[in-house]
Amino acid sequence: MREDLEGFIEPGSEEEQLVNQLDFSRLPQHVAIIMDGNGRWAKERKLPRMEGHRAGSESVREAVEICARLGIKYLTLYAFSKENWKRPRKEIATLWRLLEDYLRKEDKVLVKNRFRLKVIGQIGAVPSLVQKELERVEELTKDNRRMTIILALNYGGRTEIVDGVKKILKEKDFDIESLDEKKFSQYLYTAHLPDPDLLIRTSGELRISNFLLYQIAYSEIWITPAYWPDFRKKHMLQALVDYQKRERRFGDIYPH
Ligand code: IPE
Ligand code: IPE
Ligand code: MG
Repeated sequence: MREDLEGFIEPGSEEEQLVNQLDFSRLPQHVAIIMDGNGRWAKERKLPRMEGHRAGSESVREAVEICARLGIKYLTLYAFSKENWKRPRKEIATLWRLLEDYLRKEDKVLVKNRFRLKVIGQIGAVPSLVQKELERVEELTKDNRRMTIILALNYGGRTEIVDGVKKILKEKDFDIESLDEKKFSQYLYTAHLPDPDLLIRTSGELRISNFLLYQIAYSEIWITPAYWPDFRKKHMLQALVDYQKRERRFGDIYPH
């Protein structure tokens, strides 16, 4: 067992069997997750939706920990989409409050573990207290490199592309002929971040919901019926084992 996993993976468990199937030299560099199903998880238990969101924050802690211990470098979490503003005001308020609480409590954990926090999305429209917390924690962790946690907040994939185009159009003397896919990616919120290798969605929905449209062109997709509050290290390990069985050809006839 790798040192970082000792005490975290129980000997003889299903998780240990999964870890033993992993090739640590071929782990994805970047995992992105559409964390879905909090509301349905709560409904099944006859609880308010808010309880599903609260339970979901526990899954965030576990997903962060397993990825860090495995040595994954980038973890992107879709936490609030641009379209989520359509929800009832009370639910929206709860979501932002949970995030604020998370940042207040988890900042020490981020620092201690050398995690960097980065936010993508239209942050200007996020409640100002949350914005302040985000800025504080981003600044506090900006030099950390063990793992980068990217939070997608008030994020929309189409808006991100449009925002990129606007940025270019506002640049004086921009050389249009020099624009290519690589250069354009530097005008997205994810500039300087690698594309996700693996995209996970919970709750069984077979859609992208406006997430990282440009960046997931060649991501491997793994979908589990488990609701996000039930997502545990076992699921992450299952996703990684499955990912390693795929042949990534990128249009070629040979795997890369
Ligand atoms: C994901 O769970 C959390 C957010 C989108 C913020 P949902 O709240 O979408 O849960 P379901 O899909 O209604 O079950
Ligand atoms: C996607 O989940 C957004 C997040 C996980 C933050 P939704 O629950 O909003 O997606 P749809 O509406 O089912 O497509
Ligand atoms: Mg949903």
